Amino acid sequence: MNTFDEPRARWVVGNWKQHLLRAQAETLAGTLVGQLPDELLDRDDTVHVGIAPTFVALDAVRPWTRPAGPLWLFAQNCAAQESGAFTGEVGPTMLKDAGANGAIIGHSERRSHFGEGDALIASKVRGALDAGLRVILCVGEPLEVRRAGNHEAHVLAQLTQALSHLKPEHINGRLIIAYEPVWAIGTGVAATPGDASTMHNRIRTWLTAHYGQSGADRSLLYGGSVKPGNAAELMAAGDIDGFLVGGASLDAASFLSIIQSAATE
Ligand code: 13P
Repeated sequence: MNTFDEPRARWVVGNWKQHLLRAQAETLAGTLVGQLPDELLDRDDTVHVGIAPTFVALDAVRPWTRPAGPLWLFAQNCAAQESGAFTGEVGPTMLKDAGANGAIIGHSERRSHFGEGDALIASKVRGALDAGLRVILCVGEPLEVRRAGNHEAHVLAQLTQALSHLKPEHINGRLIIAYEPVWAIGTGVAATPGDASTMHNRIRTWLTAHYGQSGADRSLLYGGSVKPGNAAELMAAGDIDGFLVGGASLDAASFLSIIQSAATE
């Protein structure tokens, strides 16, 4: 088994958002593991599959996640601080203690519904990486920003700020970046393969300029209305190393089909 920190590892991660009770989460994880073809899990160059249930279901899916099972377990959020008088928060070491291998940070729903800004996100990214978690950092522009033609500047500014607390040694396989245009999330309207690929290329160029080869080697995932019907062409567009999947990850057959596309394209 490899370390999953190799250059441009392929990842498909299901963000279950605020869905599924514990028993439902456990059943879905078990169904996935039961149906994942062995060769996808065993070969070094295939896709790495993750799930991100709610905090309270992390423990319920543990039998299916590493190290006991083949899935990678991500939390959907992570506090910036380790512990203290922060009612309602869950810190990075607590997430590890609950079995998480990583955390999604800076999702647009956290930014827009819960007021998370770039400075907070930067602290969260640093804290999670320092605790040994993997991080899926989400960036992406709202519709009005794309319409104004400022999407690349917007995304690169988010990236600049989110990574501002990191040292060069933090730029390794534990840092995964997901481009999720806000207008594509939950709308059924994914970015075109060309638009997604162009943005990924800009992000990779930026990472390379700032961090050299360690920047160039990062896994860049696309998220936003990924479905069985569009996963293969998105994957084939170039510079896309996998997906962060919302709605379609709640259905085992759809999610497995997307995983298959990410592994074979
Ligand atoms: P959908 O796949 O439902 O558009 O959600 C994408 C997303 O937000 C993943 O984090």
